[in-house]
Amino acid sequence: MSEDGDRVDKLQLHLDKASSARIYDYMLGGRGPNNYAIDRVFGDDQSGLLPNMQAAMRENRRFIGRAVETALQLGVRQFVDIGSGLPSHGQAHQVADRFAPEAKAHVVYVDNELIANAHSEILLGDEADPERHQALLADYFAYGQLWRRVLATGLIDPEQPVCLLVTALLHFMLPEDEPEIPLAYYRRKLAPGSLLVLTHALEDREDEGLQEVTRNYGHTTNPSHLRTDEEILRFFGDWELLEPGLTWTGLWRPRPDRSVEPWWEEDTRDLPPGEPWWGGDEAKMIYRGGVARNP
Ligand SMILES: C[S@@+](CC[C@H](N)C(=O)[O-])C[C@H]1O[C@@H](n2cnc3c(N)ncnc32)[C@H](O)[C@@H]1O
Repeated sequence: MSEDGDRVDKLQLHLDKASSARIYDYMLGGRGPNNYAIDRVFGDDQSGLLPNMQAAMRENRRFIGRAVETALQLGVRQFVDIGSGLPSHGQAHQVADRFAPEAKAHVVYVDNELIANAHSEILLGDEADPERHQALLADYFAYGQLWRRVLATGLIDPEQPVCLLVTALLHFMLPEDEPEIPLAYYRRKLAPGSLLVLTHALEDREDEGLQEVTRNYGHTTNPSHLRTDEEILRFFGDWELLEPGLTWTGLWRPRPDRSVEPWWEEDTRDLPPGEPWWGGDEAKMIYRGGVARNP
């Protein structure tokens, strides 16, 4: 693999297959025109196999919100979100501007899916500050080029700490694609005090629904590969994991009052007050999440 990769020519609009960006948008509650019938049918079919999938995806978004707030509390003011997806509740710039407006955080979104990129640009055009927020169409694997373009926005000062978000992305990367190489490159580019926010679906061979859904993603534009905790931890390199380490997304620094988080009421509507949607079965959250700091 070279720094500029050979994948950029694959940046095409695929409407003959469901895409992870648009499926995810649908599962988070996005309606057309951002996603298509092919994505919605795929999403509904997978929910039939894995009923907790939608709530797990929403839990991933809640984790991202708390991780962004943590970064701001630690004084980080710059965010690069690779594989940012279609804009949804709690995009990094929204969380940052709500939680710490005085920080005037800078955010660069990166995705290699045309629809995701187009809608990020539309959202940013509508509600963001072009002096502080931008969206790029670029591929994770073309890491040299991607990073040059991030810096060319003028929004990211490489001498200052950056919060790099790589959430729900790496389980769409197969071992033979060596996703650890670009990630190690990105980590090397980041100043001390930088943070890596990462989520990844956990391998669970006992969960037949999860196994089937993973196989079905093989028919989308983003074949999926699940990993064990040990494998996920390697993505953090030698950076120091913040407490509580790599854990189920909903257990990472939970808020005292979860009901203030997006979709919480929807996900717990039929449950006794205070009961999390996963009940006693934390594995229903599917995603593991962690935040590590460049010492
Ligand atoms: C499931 S979404 C995750 C969205 C967001 N990061 C989150 O956690 O809520 C995965 C995103 O990664 C993007 N993606 C997949 N492979 C990519 C690559 N090689 N380079 C950049 N983006 C990629 C997809 O287009 C999709 O938008």
